[in-house]
Amino acid sequence: MTESARILIVDDGPDAGNMLSGWLEAEGYECVISTNADEALQLLDQDDFSVLLATMPGKSSIELLAQTREHYPDVAVIMATSFDDREWAIKSLKMGAYGYVTKPFDQGEVTINVAKALEWRRLVLASHRYEQRLEEEVQARTAEISRREEDTILRLVWAAECRDQATGDHIRRVGLHAAALAEALGWEQRRVDDIRLAAAMHDIGKIGIVEGILLKAERLTPTEFEVLKKHTEMGARILEGSDFPLLQMAKEIALCHHERWDGAGYPRGLAGEEIPESARIVAIVDVYDALSHARVYRPAHPEEEVLAIMADGRGEHFDPRIFDCFLDIIPKFLSIRTLVQREGNPFQSRK
Ligand SMILES: [Fe+2]
Ligand SMILES: [Fe+2]
Repeated sequence: MTESARILIVDDGPDAGNMLSGWLEAEGYECVISTNADEALQLLDQDDFSVLLATMPGKSSIELLAQTREHYPDVAVIMATSFDDREWAIKSLKMGAYGYVTKPFDQGEVTINVAKALEWRRLVLASHRYEQRLEEEVQARTAEISRREEDTILRLVWAAECRDQATGDHIRRVGLHAAALAEALGWEQRRVDDIRLAAAMHDIGKIGIVEGILLKAERLTPTEFEVLKKHTEMGARILEGSDFPLLQMAKEIALCHHERWDGAGYPRGLAGEEIPESARIVAIVDVYDALSHARVYRPAHPEEEVLAIMADGRGEHFDPRIFDCFLDIIPKFLSIRTLVQREGNPFQSRK
């Protein structure tokens, strides 16, 4: 079969090169002759070749083969070897040469080997393209599933909390803020992605709190406050028992986001590193977002005031190490706030 393809012939003398290129051009191939390995590598760099036919003596051919396999793996290499030099032939095949032809050259053997090398290359390239397409498809589907999962979770969390003052925007921002802080703390990407959703579920347990307490504008009585505190354990009950790390993290956040570094929080009075790191992160960003935005019973605090109030909690309410990292990335939180504001509340916009 005649096929238009570029073939690089490397020979240290012009005679064999001219002969080989004559045979191969008669088959419809385009040939370029090079007289040494360095020049051949330059040509491979500049042009697109399908086959490299290396006919110079042993060692330099082997070196050229190694370089070609490393830098131009899609080029099929055919080695030429003397009739009695089978050892070189076997070595070159082990190093990834497609095949070899023996000297003195035989026109039929050369053209058949080149045709077979081209067919091999076509199959290899087709297989690469197929693998690449498959990988792109898997990535696209995974991204779609993640988006769908995220959208569903955020809507359900908002549905569970829409009786409360919290808005869809607060839920989204707490997730994004927690992810930004986790990333700054050096968390690996998979866990950063998990906390973005897990943090959004921090108050899911409020679905079990009666409206009289949840929506009360005045200060809660101590008894009412005890009831409100139960939203942590209720949230944990809703989320517990899952095999998925995302939901396991969501459970620990729901349960522990009101714990305090000094042990004075609820529901269990955990202190310091007894509190899961995820919950220590959410404790900070939840308070930050709540203070930065208006509630029905109070206006939003200006940024400096928010930070001043929160600074009093460093080492008492908040883990000091995470709090310092939080201060370092304040500009990130401001840009998240702008982003969420600009995009609007995805839940309310579809009412
Ligand atoms: Fe809460
Ligand atoms: Fe919250």
